[in-house]
Amino acid sequence: MKSDRERWDSRYSDECGDNLYPDQFLIDCSHLLSSGRALDLACGCGANSIFLSSIGYWVDAFDISLVGLRNLQKRIGFANLPIGCAVVDLDYYPLPADSYDLITVFNFFAEQITSQIRLALKKGGLLIYSTYNYKHLSLKPEFCSDYLVPRGGLAQFFPDLEVIVDIENAEPAGNVSRFVGKNRN
Ligand SMILES: C[S@@+](CC[C@H](N)C(=O)[O-])C[C@H]1O[C@@H](n2cnc3c(N)ncnc32)[C@H](O)[C@@H]1O
Repeated sequence: MKSDRERWDSRYSDECGDNLYPDQFLIDCSHLLSSGRALDLACGCGANSIFLSSIGYWVDAFDISLVGLRNLQKRIGFANLPIGCAVVDLDYYPLPADSYDLITVFNFFAEQITSQIRLALKKGGLLIYSTYNYKHLSLKPEFCSDYLVPRGGLAQFFPDLEVIVDIENAEPAGNVSRFVGKNRN
C-alpha cells in the first residue's frame, strides 16, 4: 500500500487540482488577519501560504509532500515572498510551542495533532480551520474516517480558545466544519 507521502506526491505531480486559489473561507476571514508569523499546516501547493505572505505574514508552509512544496516554490518563482517550506510528517513532527500569530489548516484533519496546534499559538494568536467532517462519508464512502472531523465539530478540540466562528456543518451537504478561535491566554 502507498504511504501518504507517495499518494500526495503522485497526485501533485499531475496538478494542484482545485488548490490554485486561496480558500474562500480564508478570504472571508480577511478582516481578522493582520501580520506576524503564520503556519500553514498541510499546505499542499500553498495557495493559502501565498495569499498570507502577500498580505504581510512570514509563513512557514509545512507538508508531507515534497512535490506539493516544489509546486509552491515554482509558483513563487522569483517573487520575494517570505515563505519557508518544510517537508514535515505531522504525525511525528513536534510543532514549536508558543510560536505563531496565525495557524491555518485547510482540508486536513488528524485528531492527534490538535493539542499541538493549540500549543503552537502565541498569546493573541488566531487559528483558522476548515476541513471535511463525518458527513463527507455520504458523498465519498471510501474516505478514511480518521481524517474526518467527528460529530461535534472542530471547537471540541480547542476548548480554551475564544470562539469567533464555529460552524459544524457548512456547505450544502453539511460535510465541512469550520472554526476560528483566538488564544486569549
Ligand atoms: C487535501 S490536501 C490540502 C492541501 C491544502 N491545505 C489545501 O487546502 O489546498 C491535504 C494535504 O495534507 C498533506 N498531508 C497528508 N498527511 C500529512 C502528514 N502526515 N503530514 C503533513 N502533511 C500531510 C498532503 O500532502 C496534502 O497536501
